Amino acid sequence: MKLKPIRGTLTYENEDVDLISSFKQKGYRTTPALYVNGSKVPDHLASQARADQTLLSFLREVMLLTGTKLGCSEGGCGACTVTISKYDTEKKEIIHYSANACLMPVLATDGCHVTTVEGVGSVKGGNLHPIQKAMVDMHGSQCGFCTPGIIVAMYSLFANNPSQKYIEEHLDGNLCRCTGYRPIWDAAKSLCQDDDDGITRGPCGVACRECPEREVCDMECNVEDKKSAAEEKKDDSVCCSSSSDKMKDFQESYLKDPKAWLDQPNSMFPEELKTPLSSPLMVVDRSFHAAGTWFKPTTLQDLLLILNQFKGECKIVIGNTEVGIETKFKHSVFPRLVSPSTSITSIFSIESGENSLRIGSCTPLSTIQHYCSEIMDGSSDYSRIAKPIHDMLRWFASTQIRNVACLGGNLATASPISDMNPMLASMGATLIIASCDENGVISRRNVKVSEFFLSYRTVDLQPHEFIEGIEIPKPDEVFEYIVPFKQARRREDDISIVTSGMRLKLAPNGTSYEITDCSIAFGGLAPKTIMANETQSYLIGKSLALETFVEARKVLLKEIRLPSDVPGGQAQYRMTLAGSFLQTMFYKVTDLLGEDLMTIAEDNVLSSQFSNLPSPPSVNEDEKSAAETFVEQEKPSISGEQKFPPPKSYNGLESKKYDIFNEKKSVTKKIDGKDVVGQPATHASGALHCTGEAVYTDDIPLPPNSLHATLITAAICNAEFLSIDTKLALETPGVHAIYTHEDIERLGGNNIWGAIQHDEYIFLPVGATISTVGQVVGVCVADSLEASEAGARATKIEYGDVKETPIVSIEDAINANSFFEFSRHVLEKSSPLLTSEEDELVEVEGSFRCGGQEHFYLETNSTLAVPSDGGRDLTVYCSTQAVTKTQKYCASVTNMPASRVVVRMKRMGGGFGGKETRTVFSSCAAAVAAKISSRPVRLTLSRATDMALTGGRHAFLAKYKASAIVKSDKSVKLNAFDVQLFSNGGSAFDLSGPVMDRALFHVDGPYYWPTFRAEGVPCKTVQPPHTAYRGFGGPQGLATCEHVMDHLANACGISGYELRRQNLYSDGDVTPFGQILGEEYTGKWNIPKMFQKLMEEVKYDERVKEVAEFNSRHKYKKRGLSFLPTKFGIAFTAKFMNQGGALVHLYTDGTVLVSHGGTEMGQGLSTKVCQIAAQAFSIPLEDVYVNDTSSDKVANTQPTAASMSTDMYGMATLDACQQILERLKPIREALPEDATLQQIAEKAFFERVDLSAHGYFALDNSRCGFDWTIEKPESFPDDAPQNSWKGHPFNYFTQGCAFSEVEINVLTGDHKTIRSDVLVDVGRTINPALDIGQIEGAFIQGMGWSTMEEVVYGDDDHTWIRPRGRVFTTGPGTYKIPAFNDVPESFNVSLMENVDNPFAVHSSKAIGEPPFFLGASVFYAIKDAVKNARESNGVDNTYFEMRMPATSERIRMACVDDIVQDTMENPEDAIFFQPLSSV
Ligand SMILES: Cc1cc2nc3c(=O)[nH]c(=O)nc-3n(C[C@H](O)[C@H](O)[C@H](O)COP(=O)(O)OP(=O)(O)OC[C@H]3O[C@@H](n4cnc5c(N)ncnc54)[C@H](O)[C@@H]3O)c2cc1C
Ligand code: FES
Ligand code: FES
Repeated sequence: MKLKPIRGTLTYENEDVDLISSFKQKGYRTTPALYVNGSKVPDHLASQARADQTLLSFLREVMLLTGTKLGCSEGGCGACTVTISKYDTEKKEIIHYSANACLMPVLATDGCHVTTVEGVGSVKGGNLHPIQKAMVDMHGSQCGFCTPGIIVAMYSLFANNPSQKYIEEHLDGNLCRCTGYRPIWDAAKSLCQDDDDGITRGPCGVACRECPEREVCDMECNVEDKKSAAEEKKDDSVCCSSSSDKMKDFQESYLKDPKAWLDQPNSMFPEELKTPLSSPLMVVDRSFHAAGTWFKPTTLQDLLLILNQFKGECKIVIGNTEVGIETKFKHSVFPRLVSPSTSITSIFSIESGENSLRIGSCTPLSTIQHYCSEIMDGSSDYSRIAKPIHDMLRWFASTQIRNVACLGGNLATASPISDMNPMLASMGATLIIASCDENGVISRRNVKVSEFFLSYRTVDLQPHEFIEGIEIPKPDEVFEYIVPFKQARRREDDISIVTSGMRLKLAPNGTSYEITDCSIAFGGLAPKTIMANETQSYLIGKSLALETFVEARKVLLKEIRLPSDVPGGQAQYRMTLAGSFLQTMFYKVTDLLGEDLMTIAEDNVLSSQFSNLPSPPSVNEDEKSAAETFVEQEKPSISGEQKFPPPKSYNGLESKKYDIFNEKKSVTKKIDGKDVVGQPATHASGALHCTGEAVYTDDIPLPPNSLHATLITAAICNAEFLSIDTKLALETPGVHAIYTHEDIERLGGNNIWGAIQHDEYIFLPVGATISTVGQVVGVCVADSLEASEAGARATKIEYGDVKETPIVSIEDAINANSFFEFSRHVLEKSSPLLTSEEDELVEVEGSFRCGGQEHFYLETNSTLAVPSDGGRDLTVYCSTQAVTKTQKYCASVTNMPASRVVVRMKRMGGGFGGKETRTVFSSCAAAVAAKISSRPVRLTLSRATDMALTGGRHAFLAKYKASAIVKSDKSVKLNAFDVQLFSNGGSAFDLSGPVMDRALFHVDGPYYWPTFRAEGVPCKTVQPPHTAYRGFGGPQGLATCEHVMDHLANACGISGYELRRQNLYSDGDVTPFGQILGEEYTGKWNIPKMFQKLMEEVKYDERVKEVAEFNSRHKYKKRGLSFLPTKFGIAFTAKFMNQGGALVHLYTDGTVLVSHGGTEMGQGLSTKVCQIAAQAFSIPLEDVYVNDTSSDKVANTQPTAASMSTDMYGMATLDACQQILERLKPIREALPEDATLQQIAEKAFFERVDLSAHGYFALDNSRCGFDWTIEKPESFPDDAPQNSWKGHPFNYFTQGCAFSEVEINVLTGDHKTIRSDVLVDVGRTINPALDIGQIEGAFIQGMGWSTMEEVVYGDDDHTWIRPRGRVFTTGPGTYKIPAFNDVPESFNVSLMENVDNPFAVHSSKAIGEPPFFLGASVFYAIKDAVKNARESNGVDNTYFEMRMPATSERIRMACVDDIVQDTMENPEDAIFFQPLSSV
């Protein structure tokens, strides 16, 4: 069937229209029965639902319920989570499960009830659900974009099983980029019915603190608890943790009567749905969307008849987790979708028969998982297969995906990295394939799973056939073993790199066991699921022994040999994994054999069948842990403690600047004697985040007549842009226009922009060279998003020949001399070498690479441009950190004065630097379209476009030489450091210069280098322009320094910890950029003190001993430790940027409105500003409000960046408050003592006193700015620090230390973080909860950057990605950020006490960026564990370059054993082998 537009209309031909009456006669309905949030969707809305439409699109666009968010469109982030409820007629109960609305077809919810976040609870209705309340109160949201999805995911889980273990197992389908998850865990656990209350109890069950024998009881638990009680007494810091009071409050209030809220999903369920719809459904779409037809047959025969009738032109859809991806990303069009009703019970159920377990092909994976969990305890004949299926499914995708996806879909898709297909193949499973003839006579055939896969994504299945079920043969009662294996980049919700199912049958044979049968299947080693036939043959008949498996591994490696340029890459790692899995199989089977022998001994029937059984092969004690893999281990219980000083406000910079804030002279009095500043107030928008009522740019209701826009981008680079052909695109129904550079020229606008250099086009002009894959050449606007996307796709771009090989990597750029040369800077200082004769000078030389990072803010770039007043005014609503930059360029590109362009920004769903400059070009595209069309235009980038076009953190390459002096007492002093830094800047300059500068300012680390030279230059490549990212180059500089510290420590024969401790800067030391560390210059230097404090708190020396002891007992698991100090300079290094404004209005009701130049991206800036204003006026926090940031309220703002916003806007707000308070002083004095602010304001108003003020703050001239070009003036004193004539880049330093402990699996490269402790000096905190939130979030982001987040480009290392220069990692499927399960199992954060900062507001310190690098402590702990593994594998102590990120591949390959060596052409290469990377 062809779906063709009918000319001149907005409809398509759909010949199924002619079939409607015949299907109606068969009882088919034509309007779906949809129910949302307790009510039936009216038919006029339900009839708008299309076959290709996702539930998310229906909810947001038709129902206007915008609480459910679009984060990725591919089921990978959970922002779109909804609860689906339906009635199970067999069990006679309502079942509830979560699903991804971005994949679920709206028509698949026919007959179901959908609950969105709006249905859970609302601020408007004044009825927050306990989950929402817990999330607000426990600071579980920052930017809030992920929050509705997380709330609904929890709501679904609690509806099923409110136990802690269950929640921990299943909260795996949501991502949060801001919080670091710990507070979300706390919120969830606070509501669990079986939560550990944090009270220490002895084995006797009595709470130690309440025990009458407390004083005399010498049980270890009581002794430890007494110690910690004594410490708590000493320490007056506030402690909130999993055992905090708040959590207990929750438990008390909600656990007492949980029924009331736990039953909400049932009580909301519409009564009429308890009688399930029995009639089938057919929905025929004729709209310009060309969605085709949806069939929902209710009998197997009907289903097969439809397949027979429309052979080849119809697609079965069950969970839509594959079909949905094909539709969205491969743009496949399916004219007919067939989604069988659950009333066909045979395909949705599981039955255990006499000889086989039969699983209906459409049974949701979570149902299978649940079924298996109930029988895997040994109670069923199928327990032996239930356990491996269950274990594999736990790590298969996410709960949301498993709730809808099925085995039939996994099998029919035939992905080469499918997880279940190898499992089923190894178990000897058979498929039952059904079809029928025209008369509906059903026939069936059986196919072995191992023979089902023919070639890449091709299976033995005809278009009219349907997989009805899967039969798995019953395993033997003993001596048959099935084991699942999986290794991915991330444990949770990640597609495997290699996956395997292995089955082995044994029989006793003399003194050993013989392998009598075996099947080994792999995914990830070939274009299809494969059986390792030769290895199987080799093993059969051999005895169970390690040597057998070592030999079998050699056979296997020959059988699966991969070429080094294999598509997908990671050739050596994939082969290593296969070999490691096989070796693990030996240990696992030996372990299980031991269990079988015990079972036989205890079971009379079995023991009568077997006699004189031999013992299992003996396994060395230290090798036993090889049998333990994460696949079957319990998910950890994440907990942590957060400590901060008691809440109080402190005088800081404001008291120096304004007399009025010097407490003694204050005009107003504190409310209830309490400070508002210093309190852990919750995020001002927290409740709105949790109910989905917080409005983000894409949620703003569209004004009538609005258009949707999609960018048109180039598919290659380094070629001339010859022409653009828009004919086909303009013929696409719904498309309104396409705008290109010519339209900007016609407007008289300026097509050029740039963050610093003006080196970018808004729309690339014809004739210009395409500088990056994805460069924007125009924008398509249409009546719907789908139409604008179709129009953009239909636009043809003609390219010239690719001129020369695109420069993609830093190495490419160095070879071609492709640098932003004007931005090359050198920082140099020297000191005389102070050595004595006994000293030894140790020198090292090497290189270090760290990869880039994608911002992965949950909300992609979004702009709504609304023209008004005949096009003379333009309002741009935009998710940006840079309101003024957006205003400036939207004005210049549309040829409008800036005064007529207003940019408004309410909140962002995360920014992290990614929305500092890279939002501009898409906002300009929307502005141009709005200006020309005179219609409002919305442009929201898809996740893939956002990730492909907007750049990220700069990858760095460092080349260094360094030296240290080993003294006669074996102490070591750093001597000299000479480093060249190269960053991958991408195709335009953007902020690459300042980013490199900050790297240069941080590459010294917190260590004193007497002699120092650092040179840095950004490289020009064809990657998209890279940009600001939390830390802004600082982390790359710091990482280089720490790498060098490890290298030197290794060379000097000292531990890395000791080298660091002995070489920390001291008070009075001077940095290479000429700043003196110390109280009067940059604030107190606290790191040495903090280093000592944290070291004592974590009992570092004990940990070292314990880890060494653990490592000596384990060959295949190794632990590692790291201790990392950091200093981070605060101020924009460009002097002019250190300024900010605020506008404060006091109203006569005593409430205050603050507008400031900063933007709220989740960091809590507005909350802190409210606290500062509330404190200034002595009013409750609720009486102060910050609305949006708007260029017509506070003009000429700086981007919200450099962690500086509270410093600037807090002070600017205080400046405005001070002006108003000064004016109020005489009024205040004339009123009674107890006059309220309302009374004062009212009186002032009548006395004609201005109650508004504009505040302004500029950082002191002498405390910011560094000019690289200034040569040393002749008059400059000789004793002044070197380089200090160039300026003073930082106002002060935020300082911190972190300790981390990890465990790696030497055989697979998997790792887990056992513990991280962080201590940060944030000065006197304005809001400890927000500061801790920033620390935790930054830490996890830094951990992600350094351990798992890998950006991959088509370059020399990845020749399978084409065209060269294209970024491959464009969604959560390919790019992994840390998930819920990646958080350190024990994650503790403390704020340093008694630390003042006279250089910032209320003595606070900036916090957004500084803790980011502390997350890399996990990387260094991994490196330590790898070092231990290398040592135990006999690799000599040669220093190795562990590149960032420490992916599972890097970890495994660096462990270097014979398995790794066997995968190399030259085994000696293994010691220095480096996995490929895009740097
Ligand atoms: C975020 C995400 C994570 C994922 N993670 C994993 C993972 O960890 N491991 C893994 O292996 N896969 C993973 N997948 C892939 C996918 O979830 C599975 O392949 C799933 O089993 C597909 O089932 P489905 O019901 O959604 O299939 P659908 O998308 O509904 O259908 C897929 C294909 O199967 C056909 N089909 C379905 N049922 C039948 C039938 N009974 N007879 C004949 N043809 C049929 C359909 O016509 C279609 O061609 C992931 C997918 C996503 C989106
Ligand atoms: S938007 Fe649906 S999972 Fe990301
Ligand atoms: S709060 Fe989770 S992504 Fe921002």
